[in-house]
Amino acid sequence: MEAVREAERKHIAMEVHDELGQMLTALKMNVSLLEMQLANDSAAMHKVDEMRALVDKTIQIVRNVASHLRPVALNFGLASALEWLVDDFKRHTRIPCHLHIQGAEPRFSDARATAIFRIAQESLTNVARHAGASRVKITISRINSGVELRISDDGRGFDTVEAGAGYSYGLQGMVERARLIDAKLHIESAQHTGTVISIDVAED
Ligand SMILES: Nc1ncnc2c1ncn2[C@@H]1O[C@H](COP(=O)(O)OP(=O)(O)OP(=O)(O)O)[C@@H](O)[C@H]1O
Ligand SMILES: [Mg+2]
Repeated sequence: MEAVREAERKHIAMEVHDELGQMLTALKMNVSLLEMQLANDSAAMHKVDEMRALVDKTIQIVRNVASHLRPVALNFGLASALEWLVDDFKRHTRIPCHLHIQGAEPRFSDARATAIFRIAQESLTNVARHAGASRVKITISRINSGVELRISDDGRGFDTVEAGAGYSYGLQGMVERARLIDAKLHIESAQHTGTVISIDVAED
């Protein structure tokens, strides 16, 4: 199910990017043409300026939506994608978040990189929504069996047994994604101690 969903997201992301992107570019060109024809009508020019600003904003939103569905950065490897994710997280939450990659950048197949990325993404979304953290750290390091990714926050933490009994999609999705790529997922958390999500995975 996860693999199918991911393929679907990739498809929708490309569709949104290509189709909407192209139309918005055409719209922007028309606005520029209009601007040239209206050069001596200042009221109309003002409207045209507003239209241009709206088109630019819409282009930006389309880009953001597409990259949330399937970050272009993933095409350049997991490290770039995580950098993008961290920047995005910092911009939206204003919570300091540090990415540390120890040693050479790990090499993963697209399926593995995507799964790891999605786990990191859901972890950060949870931090933003639930943790009330003041710092977040993401590290990638070498371990005997491969690579370990850790996402830790210093927030309020939660009862993992209780959360596991619920039917929320986030943590369950992480477990499922990890299982699909033969990775080990650990969730360590308790009230008032912060949360550490870690995943051990072999390199391809
Ligand atoms: N980093 C965290 N800090 C504090 N609490 C957390 C953290 N991550 C998860 N939780 C707790 O675990 C619960 C389950 O998380 P999960 O991601 O499965 O669901 P959710 O975020 O509530 O909803 P969604 O299905 O949209 O992800 C959360 O509701 C929250 O109480
Ligand atoms: Mg969640």
